[in-house]
Amino acid sequence: MKGTICIYYSRSGNTEEIAKYVNNKLNSELLCISDGINREGTKMYLKSGYESMKGILPKLKSFGMHKKLEDYRNVIICSPIWAWNICPVIRSFLSTYGKKIKGKTYFIITHDSKSKYDKKINKLDEYLLNKHIAHLSICNRNKNNEEIDSFIKNIK
Ligand SMILES: Cc1cc2nc3c(=O)[nH]c(=O)nc-3n(C[C@H](O)[C@H](O)[C@H](O)COP(=O)(O)O)c2cc1C
Repeated sequence: MKGTICIYYSRSGNTEEIAKYVNNKLNSELLCISDGINREGTKMYLKSGYESMKGILPKLKSFGMHKKLEDYRNVIICSPIWAWNICPVIRSFLSTYGKKIKGKTYFIITHDSKSKYDKKINKLDEYLLNKHIAHLSICNRNKNNEEIDSFIKNIK
């Protein structure tokens, strides 16, 4: 197993910014996944929150990786929180592909509130063969690069 892939979903750019930062630092492969739905505007905000709360798993747009998911040594998954839950696109990805991950899994989760989402993140282990190694729950208001740098220092 070799290499690191950083997989993310982002509606409004916060998670994307962090995924790109991590990708730059680790010289990894970057993969944006999506359900292809434009979720701008209040109506879609509410719909998105509802879908997240209900545990709806959307169909993902097709995507490609340089190699098979099981061949990466590190898989970093970045997601926003929607309605106190990991967003549906990332849960959908994990429910389909999570058990294919043979390397080490890391989660980076962004949110607006100051509370940490450790419980929700730990629950993602249900989708994996092996428990994730570490996670970072980042509040957008308190975001600082030192915190991210110290988190990714151990990803080798
Ligand atoms: C539909 C929806 C629901 C959200 N629910 C929460 C929430 O329950 N708790 C929270 O702290 N932030 C919540 N947020 C804020 C996002 O988690 C936060 O802004 C995140 O960084 C967005 O990432 P993105 O810009 O990559 O899409 C919500 C955002 C959306 C769009």
